[in-house]
Amino acid sequence: MNKKNTPSAINRREFLQTSAKLAASAMFVSLGTSRLFGALNPDTAESSIKNITLNNGIKMPILGFGTLYLNGAVGEKCVADAISLGYRLIDTAKVYNNEESVGAGIKLSGIKREELFVTSKLWVDDSGYENAKKAFEISLNKLGLDYLDLYLIHRPRGDVKGSWKAMEELYKEGRIRAIGISNFEPEQINDLMANSTVRPTVNQIETHAFFQQPKNYEFLKQTDVQMEAWSPFAQGRNGLFTNETIAAIGKKYNKTNAQVSLRWHYQRGIVAIPRTSQKAHMAENLDIFNFELDEKEMKAISPLDLNITQFPEWT
Ligand SMILES: NC(=O)c1ccc[n+]([C@@H]2O[C@H](COP(=O)([O-])OP(=O)(O)OC[C@H]3O[C@@H](n4cnc5c(N)ncnc54)[C@H](OP(=O)(O)O)[C@@H]3O)[C@@H](O)[C@H]2O)c1
Repeated sequence: MNKKNTPSAINRREFLQTSAKLAASAMFVSLGTSRLFGALNPDTAESSIKNITLNNGIKMPILGFGTLYLNGAVGEKCVADAISLGYRLIDTAKVYNNEESVGAGIKLSGIKREELFVTSKLWVDDSGYENAKKAFEISLNKLGLDYLDLYLIHRPRGDVKGSWKAMEELYKEGRIRAIGISNFEPEQINDLMANSTVRPTVNQIETHAFFQQPKNYEFLKQTDVQMEAWSPFAQGRNGLFTNETIAAIGKKYNKTNAQVSLRWHYQRGIVAIPRTSQKAHMAENLDIFNFELDEKEMKAISPLDLNITQFPEWT
């Protein structure tokens, strides 16, 4: 056998390629969040998920896996499958009622804890200082973990300041690596920041082609709070997976509407957490790092914005 292709030579080559990739991503990360958010400089040769750096210095994968509606044995298998394919950011919440399944999936994957970035969220019913502390412990127990990478206030309701005080303490004790918010508007973020000692690192909000959130996008960029897109496909509502503008762009690169959508989020510097129950879709949604939308294509997606939520039942 040609020495070049012996298993050890291939392993060594793979090792060197991986090291080069890691070095490339380290260089990428060192650019800092402010340059990445909204001004991403994608390396089209890179195929692994890159990290962004949050305002507290913690690194977060820019693409992750959402788990809403993935419950029980299905949830467990989906999380394990997603991790096996390369997802490292897993997004759950107390209100999804699947933290146990997510924890079981993590265990089943066999991955080292420190390689993952696990997010959970504090639900409205648990708002307030004492309640938030208790809810955090319950979430952690259900997940079978001893720390969270990111804990978010799920919605700006109830005693937000009390919740944040509890989360600040947990953060300072090292129980959570980063704390943040979800579904907050700029005025609510300003109010929170005026009354706290720890800045939110992330705001997770509904973002997709039909609800692009330009005001929040600019505000979050300016305040160095990372924007994270929930429902990055709008759950397929309004025909996102068959939209002709997105399909025409995808045709050029032989990519699906899902892939063009995720690439669009990525080039805007937004963390996206697509959910799927299908392994083929998990792989498809990861395959977005080998093409690049040009300026004209990015601009062609802008007019798709309807400037209205696709989830009125949740407001
Ligand atoms: N903070 C909040 O308030 C909030 C609110 C909502 C969601 N979230 C988070 O955001 C995550 C994502 O949002 P989401 O779950 O609402 O919806 P989503 O990711 O926008 O869409 C999920 C839907 O897309 C389909 N899909 C996924 N990949 C596909 C592909 N490659 N081709 C065709 N269809 C595809 C899935 O079907 P298949 O299973 O058949 O692939 C599923 O029906 C959630 O899971 C959750 O973690 C947070």
